[in-house]
Amino acid sequence: MRPFFREERAQMQTDFSRMFDLTYPIVAAPMFLVSTSALVKAAAEAGIMGTFPALNYRPIEAFAAAVQDIKKATKAAIGVNIIVQEANRLRDQQIDIALQEGVELIITSLGNPRTVIERAKGTKTRVFCDVVNLQHAEKVRDLGADGLIAVSHGAGGHAGTISPFVLIPRLRQATSLPVLAAGNIVDGRGLAAALALGASGAYIGTRFIASEEAEVDADYKQSIVDYDMEDIVSTHKVDGFSGQLYPHATT
Ligand SMILES: Cc1cc2nc3c(=O)[nH]c(=O)nc-3n(C[C@H](O)[C@H](O)[C@H](O)COP(=O)(O)O)c2cc1C
Repeated sequence: MRPFFREERAQMQTDFSRMFDLTYPIVAAPMFLVSTSALVKAAAEAGIMGTFPALNYRPIEAFAAAVQDIKKATKAAIGVNIIVQEANRLRDQQIDIALQEGVELIITSLGNPRTVIERAKGTKTRVFCDVVNLQHAEKVRDLGADGLIAVSHGAGGHAGTISPFVLIPRLRQATSLPVLAAGNIVDGRGLAAALALGASGAYIGTRFIASEEAEVDADYKQSIVDYDMEDIVSTHKVDGFSGQLYPHATT
């Protein structure tokens, strides 16, 4: 994985990068069936935060082994995404392992994060929650979340519906928590725009599908490079949630 910036350029620090001792305020966002330990380790080497969905490793023993393997390879902070709705039957074991292994960041999605936030209190693990609107953000702030991921319109995977130009400044103003900008960011221009809107960092998924370390086939990676903005389709027909996809991409 190549860093976004040449090594000699100055570090770019925010409350988020300082919280996790990162060189750049960027997260390689968790992607189901795409981000695994290889991508997390490469992100750590590049000075950004690597993350992966806990469900990418099953059974639960494989998840524990993956976290231990990454922790052995790097001292950098890493993140794990846990789906907190009850449909995720491995949820409680995933939380146990993330806390036991000292994972620095748990990212919650799809459900109420109360249990994770309560269990992480007093540990070194911080909890950031995916949110798509102000109501979600205020709820998780009141539960004690350490930060927000503003999933805006255009984000890969399960997208929000609100423009980042509105969502990011509004969440920052209303909650004063660190906000990571998720959706449509592919380079330094996008990062600069996110920071200008008040975000504390960029949470980048789709671009990293095309990285060497993503564990998907070459055609899928090439489609990310070849396709253009007109090829993206927004639909809820895949799993009932609103999302974006490249209809011809092979997975
Ligand atoms: C293929 C794919 C799979 C994803 N899977 C997950 C997931 O399992 N859990 C999660 O919290 N977010 C998931 N996301 C969302 C990303 O973590 C992130 O919010 C999003 O990719 C940011 O928008 P971008 O793709 O425009 O950079 C996924 C995104 C993509 C593109």
